[in-house]
Amino acid sequence: MKRGGRRIALVPTLGALHEGHAAHIRAARQQDAAVVVSIYVNPTQFGEPEDFKKYPRDIEADAALCAREGADVVFAPGDDEMYSPNASTWTEETALSHRLEGQARPGHFRGVCTVVAKLFHIVQPDVATFGQKDYQQLKVVQRMVRDLLFPVRIVVVPTVREADGLALSSRNQHLDAAARAQATVLWKALNVAKDLFHDGERNPHRLSTAMMRAVQLAPVARLDYAEIADGETLASKPEAAAGDVALLAAYIGKTRLIDNLVL
Ligand code: PAJ
Repeated sequence: MKRGGRRIALVPTLGALHEGHAAHIRAARQQDAAVVVSIYVNPTQFGEPEDFKKYPRDIEADAALCAREGADVVFAPGDDEMYSPNASTWTEETALSHRLEGQARPGHFRGVCTVVAKLFHIVQPDVATFGQKDYQQLKVVQRMVRDLLFPVRIVVVPTVREADGLALSSRNQHLDAAARAQATVLWKALNVAKDLFHDGERNPHRLSTAMMRAVQLAPVARLDYAEIADGETLASKPEAAAGDVALLAAYIGKTRLIDNLVL
């Protein structure tokens, strides 16, 4: 396709595709390009082996969704194609990767950057889509692309949500009925911060405390972090400003969910 002059758009995924991923395929199709969806549960970005083993896999359903949305290619490599048994070379972003998700999941972004670099080398896309849902991942990948001169343009896809605000995620499958009902506290807490910000609150500590309290209203929720960070560098700030981002991570029952909202 590339030799025939087609532009290539890559949608990198871990599979277990949902309507959020479908929005990426649609955004990719708008790039006037052949659309490649990669499906690979990348072992090096998972901390606990349990989380990796538990990650939902359904290649038949994923292929059907890709076909329905008009993707041109599904690339679903095996571990042997992606990693040599004695692989010892990594791609690591070192400024944005260590806080927030990086702190909660050491090595996570090293695994993400390494696999995304490999996917870029194999697929050689002109554009690639990344979701606002994983805000820190988006910023880390944009930084990697800039710093390592990857000739790839990143297209940002807004977060697709359920009617009650819960961000679509493959991990939502693990929520039981009670946890699902309470999972909407993440979205509610982010909106508490947004409303306070619009009412003039600029103290990041007070904004994050308000988010923390909102999450704690759900009995099954256990907060991991609630923070206001610079929208580009993800650094904490003495004073909140427009363009900053509110970020949350919480266990809802046994399932860890993340969400964010740009102020
Ligand atoms: P995965 O979690 O499958 O997500 C694939 C892409 O879909 C990511 O860019 C993610 O931000 C986006 N996404 C997830 N939920 C979304 C939602 N509700 N609305 C819009 N977009 C959403 O993120 C990964 O896979 C991996 O880390 C990967 C980049 C593929 C590297 O292994």
